[in-house]
Amino acid sequence: MMKNIGDPIARVDGRLKVTGAALYSAEIPMLKPAYAVLVTSTIASGRITALDDEKARHASGVIAVFSYKNAPHLNRPKFMPAGQSTPILQSADIYYGGQPIAVVLAESLESATHAASLVAVSYSALAPAIDMFAHLDSAFVPAKRQTGEDPSSKRGNALDGLTHADVKLRLMYTTPVEHHNPMEPHAATAVWEGDQLTVYDATQGVTNSAHSLSQILGVPAANVRVVSRFLGGGFGCKGMSWPHVAIAAMAAREIKRPVKLALTRPQMFSGNGHRPTTRQSIDIGASRNGKLTAISHIVDSHTSALDDFTEASGSPTEFLYSCSNVEVLHRLVRLNTGTPTFTRAPGFASGSFALESAMDEMACKLDIDPVEFRLRNFAARDEQENLPWSSNSLRECYAAAAARFGWQRRSSRLGSHRDGRLLVGYGMASATYPAHFQAASAKATFYANGKVLVQCGTQDIGTGTYTVMAQTAANVLGVGVEQVRFELGDTRLPAAPGSGGSTTAASAGSAVFNTVQVLRDRLIHMAATDSRSPLYATDEKLIIIRDGRLMVDGHAAGSETLVELLARQALPNVTVDSSTGPGIEQGYPEMQKPGDTPGERPKSRHSYKVFGAHFCEVRVDPDLGEVRVARMVSAFAGGRILNARTARSQLQGGMIWGIGMALMEETRIDRQRGFFSNANLADYLLPVNADIPAVEALLVEEVDPYVNPIGSKGLGEIGIVGAAAAVANAVYNATGKRIRDLPITPDKII
Ligand code: MOS
Repeated sequence: MMKNIGDPIARVDGRLKVTGAALYSAEIPMLKPAYAVLVTSTIASGRITALDDEKARHASGVIAVFSYKNAPHLNRPKFMPAGQSTPILQSADIYYGGQPIAVVLAESLESATHAASLVAVSYSALAPAIDMFAHLDSAFVPAKRQTGEDPSSKRGNALDGLTHADVKLRLMYTTPVEHHNPMEPHAATAVWEGDQLTVYDATQGVTNSAHSLSQILGVPAANVRVVSRFLGGGFGCKGMSWPHVAIAAMAAREIKRPVKLALTRPQMFSGNGHRPTTRQSIDIGASRNGKLTAISHIVDSHTSALDDFTEASGSPTEFLYSCSNVEVLHRLVRLNTGTPTFTRAPGFASGSFALESAMDEMACKLDIDPVEFRLRNFAARDEQENLPWSSNSLRECYAAAAARFGWQRRSSRLGSHRDGRLLVGYGMASATYPAHFQAASAKATFYANGKVLVQCGTQDIGTGTYTVMAQTAANVLGVGVEQVRFELGDTRLPAAPGSGGSTTAASAGSAVFNTVQVLRDRLIHMAATDSRSPLYATDEKLIIIRDGRLMVDGHAAGSETLVELLARQALPNVTVDSSTGPGIEQGYPEMQKPGDTPGERPKSRHSYKVFGAHFCEVRVDPDLGEVRVARMVSAFAGGRILNARTARSQLQGGMIWGIGMALMEETRIDRQRGFFSNANLADYLLPVNADIPAVEALLVEEVDPYVNPIGSKGLGEIGIVGAAAAVANAVYNATGKRIRDLPITPDKII
């Protein structure tokens, strides 16, 4: 059936997933695979003094054990894109708790797990630096943010702006370490055929993973193929390549057998990234009538002993509101943890908690409605980049969500709204995230049997890529969606960026959109130039394709099917490919191509951002301090929506994570041992269904002619941005208690 772009069709891979037919990276069938289990360090800083693998080697079913004592040379990973630059099994040095120090390979997972427990290790341990707050005096300014920008930025003079403010507030917020915890753990199946390596890797970026393997193993990139057909969530931790992938590939080469390696849930907490701790100092000033005069946002976050990862929490502060005096600074504190990494809406999720709480504090101080206060400071253009927005529907988002939520019923008298014993509070916050667009290419083939194959080396990290790409291709070409097969997740396919930074729908989507248009135009041209076609010599601009039939709109008589066209010309198929990238829509002579360094992008003429707004109602038990979210209504504008169902699903997932971030999520640190101590899903609290009431994501209509060829802005991350602040602001409205340290646990309320 013909479906339009945007229609809320069900996931095309849904059946495969619910029936278990979708194979994930650890499940790829292999002939005689060996199972790998990592042995990880039990100290966070120091050296291994002895490692005895004798017992493990002789345990039943064991094939081999590799550690720094006998592992072949592996190059030290480069931080980008390797994930972290710890030398992999090359030395006795320990930089963080849970660092891989050996790998056991056995005939079964059980044998490998048992043997791994037999590896005896002694250490000479140093006292680990693990508490950021105890080491703030060692904070330093890194060379850059993770996204490449300067660590600091400044427009106007914040000190001046604060001096001239009628009201100024000095506020301090903190957010804890958080972990991604995708349902599917990190996993890799590695197999060599001669000098050709194939790794089925649970990765958000097949190209990144292949580059990283090529660099660490010292083999040509052309010899490495990475495949990732299904991913059980990533959220950033699978954006980079971590040591276990290279370990699996190394081991497979050494023992000359396929190797399967999946991390355990506790291992998912140690060396595969996390959202770092942040301490955010905000000075905010405003005039009596509610105009911002200054914001200073200083962010301290932690990084590892090896690499500088900057959680860029100051980023939203730079452009979300109109304000003449804005200063942002990021600093890092080195700790003995694994390197932190991108975690859903990196920088923006943590930073928006501070900024949107501070905006609420100022609105309450000025006694101005929080929505009205934000409207008075609406940024008509991006004041940081000094560029017009490609589109900005923030005000429409406030209006849509506020109306649906019933914001006008909010009382500004704290603690005045009750439901029986429970205190009721309303809170809101703005949301924003960059609308990234990167170069991508795709290939589209129309077959003589009427089937269409579209290929693009992108990923479906659980977001719905298979579905939206098939739907887009079917709609552009004018065939039923069931005729289209979309292939992704393989370095052998046309190159596309990694699926991080909410970039896939915009980037791979634009490549598919453009490529299928080229295919459609080619097929139309073939008919118009074929003297035996009923459409011969028809103006090509008038020819359309509908349900697989070429015709002039409204003239079904002079038509033929695409299948008839190919049959007459005796063609097995028609194939086209094309690339797209930043710059193409804006008329720049140079278009970025897949593989170009992002730094070499042409300068934009617009600022590309996504916007949204959250409205939240909480119920607080004044005796027990328990906070429950009663409902949340949020609105987002994402340009062209490719599938309303998968878009809402992404947004609701982000909102739910935001509720978890507000009330539950916190990776605790054992300060003595230097370890994350609640490294399992029983002690690391996450919202379950019973914690989540109605969360409603409204899609506000928006047309953006500039952002990229398909006109779509990514919605994978913005759902969490501002969500925690909306909850905290509602808690304040309910109780008069301003909680500036996440998560908002009962002890902080009572
Ligand atoms: Mo996202 S945190 O860039 O996967």
